Amino acid sequence: MKFHIQTWGCQMNDHDGEKLSGLLERDGFVPVDSPEEAELVLLNTCSIREKAVHKVFSELGRLREEKERRPLLIGVTGCLAQQEQDALFRRAPHIDFVLGTMALKQLPRLVEEARAGRKKVMDTGEYPDNHLFPPEVTRRRGTAKALVTIIEGCNHACTYCIVPTTRGAERSRPFEDVLEEVRGLVAGGYREVELLGQNVNSYQGGCTFAELLERVSEVDGLEWIRFTTSHPMNFTRELARVLATNPKIAPFLHLPVQSGSNTVLRRMLREYTVEQYLERLGYLGEGRFKLALSTDFIVGFPGESDEDFEATLRLLDAVKYDGSFSFIYSPRPGTAALRLKDDIPQAVKSARLTELQRRQGELTLASNRREVGRTLQARIESSAPMEEGHWLARTASWKNIHITAGAGRLLPFGELVEVTITEAGPHFLRAEVA
Ligand code: SAH
Ligand code: SF4
Ligand code: F3S
Repeated sequence: MKFHIQTWGCQMNDHDGEKLSGLLERDGFVPVDSPEEAELVLLNTCSIREKAVHKVFSELGRLREEKERRPLLIGVTGCLAQQEQDALFRRAPHIDFVLGTMALKQLPRLVEEARAGRKKVMDTGEYPDNHLFPPEVTRRRGTAKALVTIIEGCNHACTYCIVPTTRGAERSRPFEDVLEEVRGLVAGGYREVELLGQNVNSYQGGCTFAELLERVSEVDGLEWIRFTTSHPMNFTRELARVLATNPKIAPFLHLPVQSGSNTVLRRMLREYTVEQYLERLGYLGEGRFKLALSTDFIVGFPGESDEDFEATLRLLDAVKYDGSFSFIYSPRPGTAALRLKDDIPQAVKSARLTELQRRQGELTLASNRREVGRTLQARIESSAPMEEGHWLARTASWKNIHITAGAGRLLPFGELVEVTITEAGPHFLRAEVA
């Protein structure tokens, strides 16, 4: 049976897609590139904002027509599945099965039942061993960097956020398991890993997150370690020290702040003030200047005044993030923020988002321009040239690079090459092989 998985959302969900793919391939299912060729389609969904949910329902609409023409099994997995559970069957009766985020390993059973003709098959249970997934089963997409789960779930309670509902409470993988998986990945040719969790900083798998980073960095042959995401209140001095001193940890830190206003942060239940956030960044000391910093912002949170928004812009200017992701607040079902009046006019929300992104664009361009003339290492991320003599790569600080290498020259996928940056744009750097 041919299958296709369509994934939306964060790296955690991407990686879940790789695990689901592995479970199906182990049972002899064959992956295909498009839903049109598939007999089984999995929609591995995200529900972080309303827009993400729209995308899922529009794809479900398209698949309904497809299913009227030919036999097709449709399964919904991921955060929307966990959130909506059997309500999904009411909204889209052509769904065959629903699999929650904490029951991944139940996929083969659900597919079997659905194939046998059972209707509305569902498992959204919370299996306590969900985070202990056999690494040899995972089927990674062909990227140069391998994703590795270290912790699942989130124990914070940000008032706007659906994730604690869709991913449950925190569960850490024992560090021996993590190390074994990383060793296996390196043996299989990977040189870069990204450690994943909704909040990696609260890792508790037998050592602290900082210690885990040190241990992983001791794996022979591994070149770069990345991690995502970090909650500022779990960002420790110990972690700052490891980041600043361990050469294998990629010099990049994503530390979501959400807002520059203490009033808004309090209403978001972020557990810190702007001053405390800046104090945490201060832990990095001189190491701060070796790192690229990025963050997330939400604009238009209930009650956000012009002054609150100005405070966010001031924070942006003060920290000079190298990059940031910003979003308009989206009310989510069952979250505490629903009790607050969503009172900012749409036009004001949009204007704030545009202004924030414009200023970030200037900062990113300035950050990119500082790279011009430097010679540094970048990992080749395209397995073939984009066009004759042009290749895609990434710096350790996660900047996109377009390399001009001369026609006929082959740059090996996944390897580090030394490049000299020749030009900076808002979204990528141009470089030549040094
Ligand atoms: N665990 C991560 C966040 C995961 S969600 C952390 O705490 O850092 C990624 C980003 O989506 C968040 O940082 C936030 O900026 C945004 N986000 C989450 N819920 C949202 C909502 N209801 N509306 C708009 N943006 C939201
Ligand atoms: Fe959501 Fe907050 Fe947890 Fe991040 S820390 S996943 S924003 S509840
Ligand atoms: Fe989306 Fe779930 Fe990730 S809501 S961002 S897929 S944890």
